[in-house]
Amino acid sequence: MKNITLIATAAMGLESVVAQEVKQLGYEVTVENGKVIFEAPVSAIPRCNLWLRTADRVKVLVGKFNATTFDELFESTKALPWEEFIAEDGQFPVSGKSIKSQLHSVPDCQKIVKKSIAERLKLKYGMVSKMPETGALYKIEVALLKDEVTLTLDTSGTGLHKRGYRVGQGDAPLKETMAAALVLLTNWKAEYTFIDPFCGSGTIPIEAALIGQNIAPGFNRDFASENWAFIRNKHWQKAFEEAEDLANYDQKLEIIGSDIDHNLIKVASDNAIEAGLGDLITWKQMQVKDLFIRNENGYIVTNPPYGERLSDKEAVAALYKDFGDVMKNHPTWSIYVITAFAAFEKQFGMEATKKRKLFNGFIETNYYQYFGERS
Ligand SMILES: C[S@@+](CC[C@H](N)C(=O)[O-])C[C@H]1O[C@@H](n2cnc3c(N)ncnc32)[C@H](O)[C@@H]1O
Repeated sequence: MKNITLIATAAMGLESVVAQEVKQLGYEVTVENGKVIFEAPVSAIPRCNLWLRTADRVKVLVGKFNATTFDELFESTKALPWEEFIAEDGQFPVSGKSIKSQLHSVPDCQKIVKKSIAERLKLKYGMVSKMPETGALYKIEVALLKDEVTLTLDTSGTGLHKRGYRVGQGDAPLKETMAAALVLLTNWKAEYTFIDPFCGSGTIPIEAALIGQNIAPGFNRDFASENWAFIRNKHWQKAFEEAEDLANYDQKLEIIGSDIDHNLIKVASDNAIEAGLGDLITWKQMQVKDLFIRNENGYIVTNPPYGERLSDKEAVAALYKDFGDVMKNHPTWSIYVITAFAAFEKQFGMEATKKRKLFNGFIETNYYQYFGERS
């Protein structure tokens, strides 16, 4: 099969991080709101699903066209080469969304697209009766934006944030894709000590350990397109072999996760074991004010309470002050904090070198970055 067009979907604000990851896998990209688009051979589907740490999903772009009537939607959908992707017995449910478009009834758009694809497949596969839909799952999405229709196939299945290691969680866990992005937005290298003093269920230290040992984040899970006939099995096999070859299990790491809540320390440790990281990460029950830093250089990457969901504003302000008081004595450390608390720098007692707006789910946050002094 010739090259196909793939879309790695990204949370708002993370497009450039996803783009960087796709480029590192060897593909040229263009970036749009919420998506990174690239042309690639079919083998990119297994590789991207296995390796992308910060993308939500990997989709195949089947077609794009304008439609303002159901007839146009039907005919243009039918003109696309669906049989190149969907096997004779494939199941192809259609989901949809419509924004600022004349065709605003999403259920109708879904129905038309479904009917149109079924008609094309029946013709191509020489079937008289209904398509059997007993085989592999090909989730189709019809998305309309200002009358432009985009038809995609979801190659990932469950969202890529589900790495397969989260056996437990706290009240406000960070999405794995976001935790990986927070680490990738730093210059941390595996030689440096890494601490998350508000680690909760351990997402940030676990993602850092996976990055530190170059372990593919999708190594522990399945993907919808593993059963698709047009991606030959050898591509999946090769991608898994590549991931195994590139993993550096001998890389020494000093990664510490601590939290005031001892129950969460147990959850974090269980999650790390499930991720196959065993005792690679040190977990400690500890308050941030007792944080003891002995190395000269290191990185802190953390997601403390924001005072919105977990505790009240005053308590959080005091917490940030405690945290700042500890870190004041370690100007050579680099510190990265994601929070929605507006007066963070004031409470922390230091002005950030750099700030970046990020959305943690629907919460607008800032990622405060303090670059450590280097001697
Ligand atoms: C937003 S959650 C972190 C979630 C984590 N990133 C995850 O993915 O599960 C903030 C954490 O800070 C912890 N915490 C609250 N006060 C603390 C303190 N004084 N010292 C250390 N940890 C504290 C809470 O127990 C909670 O787990």
